[in-house]
Parts: sequence; C-alpha cells; structure tokens
Amino acid sequence: MEKLVIEGGVRLEGELELQGSKNSALPILAAAAVTGETSILKHCPQLRDTDAAMRILRHVGCEAERAGNAVIVRSDAPKQWEIPDALMREMRSSIIFLGALLSRFGRAELSAPGGCDIGLRPIDLHLSALASLGVRTEERCGRLCCSVPNGLHGATVTLPFPSVGATENTLLCAVRAKGETVIRNAAREPEICDLAAFFNGCGAKIRGAGTDTVTVEPAERFRALEFPIMPDRIMAATFLSAAAVTAGTVCLHRAAPQYLVPVLPYFEQAGCVVRVQDDDVLLHAPHRLQSTGLVRTMPYPGFPTDFQASAMVMAAVSQGTSVFVETIFENRFRHVPELQRMGAHITVHNSVAVVEGVPQLCGACVRATDLRAGAALVTAGLAAQGVTQVSCIEHIDRGCERFEHNLSLLGARIERIETDTE
Ligand code: EPU
Repeated sequence: MEKLVIEGGVRLEGELELQGSKNSALPILAAAAVTGETSILKHCPQLRDTDAAMRILRHVGCEAERAGNAVIVRSDAPKQWEIPDALMREMRSSIIFLGALLSRFGRAELSAPGGCDIGLRPIDLHLSALASLGVRTEERCGRLCCSVPNGLHGATVTLPFPSVGATENTLLCAVRAKGETVIRNAAREPEICDLAAFFNGCGAKIRGAGTDTVTVEPAERFRALEFPIMPDRIMAATFLSAAAVTAGTVCLHRAAPQYLVPVLPYFEQAGCVVRVQDDDVLLHAPHRLQSTGLVRTMPYPGFPTDFQASAMVMAAVSQGTSVFVETIFENRFRHVPELQRMGAHITVHNSVAVVEGVPQLCGACVRATDLRAGAALVTAGLAAQGVTQVSCIEHIDRGCERFEHNLSLLGARIERIETDTE
C-alpha cells in the first residue's frame, strides 16, 4: 500500500504546465471508438482512469497505445460490444462507453455502475435520453443489455437536469444517428465543448456546445484526427489552492483561464492576487487568507463540486467563517472528518458545511475517501504544521497526474512511500 507523506509549512513557489483534463479525456477516448478512424489525443493525462479507459478500448477490439503525452487509438476493426464487470468496476465513468458501443455496434452489454464514494450516481437520465434516440434497455442480473432494434434516429432530448454524463452519452450516439438531434437543458461544462470539438474535427456538425441547447448533425463520414485534450480546470484550481494555503506564488502554464471564470473570483475574495496573461494564470497569496462567505456548488458555469473540497481547505485556514452548500452529489463532505483530525473547525448539517477558519492546521494521518477529497487532504497537509500522511492514494492517482512530482517542482516536501499498514 502506498501513502503520500507531506511535511507542511513550506511556501510553494514556481511554475507548472497543467495536465490534460481527465473529464475531457475519458469521453474523448470513448468517442475515438465511435469514429472507426485513427485518433491521436495529445495531452491525454496518464492516470488510473485513462489507463482503465484504454483497457476497455483494447477489450472491445480497438488499438490504444501511449506515445509520450499522447494516446493513439485505432478503431477500424472493433469486435466486442460487451464490457466485463471487472473492467466496468475499474472506473465509474466507464458508463460513457455505453453510448460509444451503441453508436458503433447498435448494441452494448455492460454492468450498471452502481453507487460510489461520493453518492448514488444513478444513470436514469442517460437511459431515458438514449431511449429517445431508439435505444431499448433491459436489465438482466445486474447487466444492462441495450440494443437499437430500428437503428439510432435523431430526436429532441430534454434533460430534466443538465447531467454531464447523460449529455456526453447522447452526443456519442447522436453523431451516428439518422437525422438531427437537439439536446435541451444540456450540460454546459467545458468538457462538453471539448467532446463536440473532437467530433466536429472528425466530421460531425455539433452546434451550441457550451450552451443549454446543443444541435447534432451526424457525420456523413468520419476522418482521422489529431486533437489536443483541454487543460484540466480542476487541477488548475487545485494547484492554485495549494499555493493559496501556503502563502505562495505560482504561475500555471496552459491553464485555459477562460474555463476558470467560476473559480478565480473565489481566490480573489480570499485575498489572493490573480493575474491572467494569455494562457497563463499567476497567483500570489497573502500571509493569511480571508473567509469567502457562501459557496454553493452548481453545474457549470457555477462553482464546481470537484473543487469544493480544496476550496474548503482554504476556508479552514482563513480568517472568518465560510459556508459551503453542496448541491450536486449527496456524499461529498467525506473529507470533513479527516480535516477535523487536522484541527479544522467544520460542522456539517446535511448538505451544508460551516467552516470557522483556524490560524493553523496540524499534521495527522488521514485517508483519501475519493479523488478530490484526497487532493484536498494533500493541500491541507501542505498548509499544516508537522507531518501529514495520506493513505488510500489510489483515489488520487485516478485523476492527478504525477501529483507529488508536480508539487515538489513548486518546492513542496512530499514523497510517496510504500507501507504495510493503512
Ligand atoms: N444524476 C442522476 N441521474 C443520471 C445522471 C446523473 O440523478 O442519470 C445525478 C448524479 O447522481 C449527480 C448529478 O446528477 O448527483 C450530477 O451528475 P452528472 O451526470 O452531471 O455527473 P457525472 O457525469 O457523473 C461528471 C464528472 C464528475 C463531476 C460531475 C459534475 C466525469 C468523468 N465526471 O460526472 O467528476 O463531479 O460531472 O461536474 O466527467 C471527478 O472528476 O472527481 C468527478 C466526480
């Protein structure tokens, strides 16, 4: 078992180039199976989740290989529309392959993803959107068996909630459906724009990505494409928060500041100076952060749920009281008991957390309960006095590429160790 060991209290300073976005890379890896062509995905982060997606691609008969920071997918001869349970369980977002397989084969068999560490995460919105495009689903012994008896056809799909995954699965099917599809109340996340840009590069005509109405004209013929995955906006915010809690100064390159609009004001309210220059973001933090009032997580362009845990670490060491309302996932305060072990003053009532800032956290042994909670605990460790040990870091490895290496480049004292105990 591995742990991250952090000696806190070191001011972070320096510059970093951001990794490609996990949440953009995963649907685009699935999309590469749809086109039947060769896709070269540059800046595809090397993570447990992208490795799992590549294993699924190989299982269904695509070639998927890494070449430096790129992944090359050849999907001219896929042969398999079933994904075994073991591969599905490797990552929750494997449900994105449902749309990809239906699009390519007209059928798919895979296990339902079930709940996970941050909440129930049902897929009812995915299934009802796909049903509008002609997909019939039966559940047999925990397996979803989907088929398209009369072919995929375009339709108007109105999502009751702007689900990211349901929007992506609909796009994956709509690009091979007969006729136009309109998605209303679509998710507006930048990762949807990236998926649409990938498909448009391959020959589809998707308009309105990034707004709540997305129109898809299917591709007549797909073509091969070299495509850069967008920078990871959540990792950008995570590194900025690490600098903020250590009174540090960092410059992030290839940071795509246009996607950071929902979070940069948070850093400014906390007293940081933030400068944007071209594709770089520079942050200079004060000696002590200020509390930020009320933060409510919302679909994009609202405050991202994926940054809530790290933002809470900033609040935990700020002067004053901050309040967080989590509206996206049921179970996304699991970092709170761990932060309390480090001396944070936080009380939780259902989906509301009240954080009274303390001058200093103290190092402790804590457990990463999910990816973003894990990254937040590392951030807390950087701010704390003494040594923090973070266990269950396999969650962190799902989404943070070479996390400890990148933090060390900024001066952090952090190392990965092998231990027998949790
Ligand atoms: N929901 C339903 N039914 C559905 C689909 C979603 O009730 O059929 C609910 C979910 O249970 C959740 C809410 O709607 O409460 C939002 O779910 P959404 O479908 O928008 O999220 P997702 O596609 O499952 C993606 C990211 C998450 C990120 C959310 C919200 C990927 C691979 N995952 O999940 O990222 O938190 O959007 O922005 O893109 C992470 O990276 O750590 C992560 C969890």
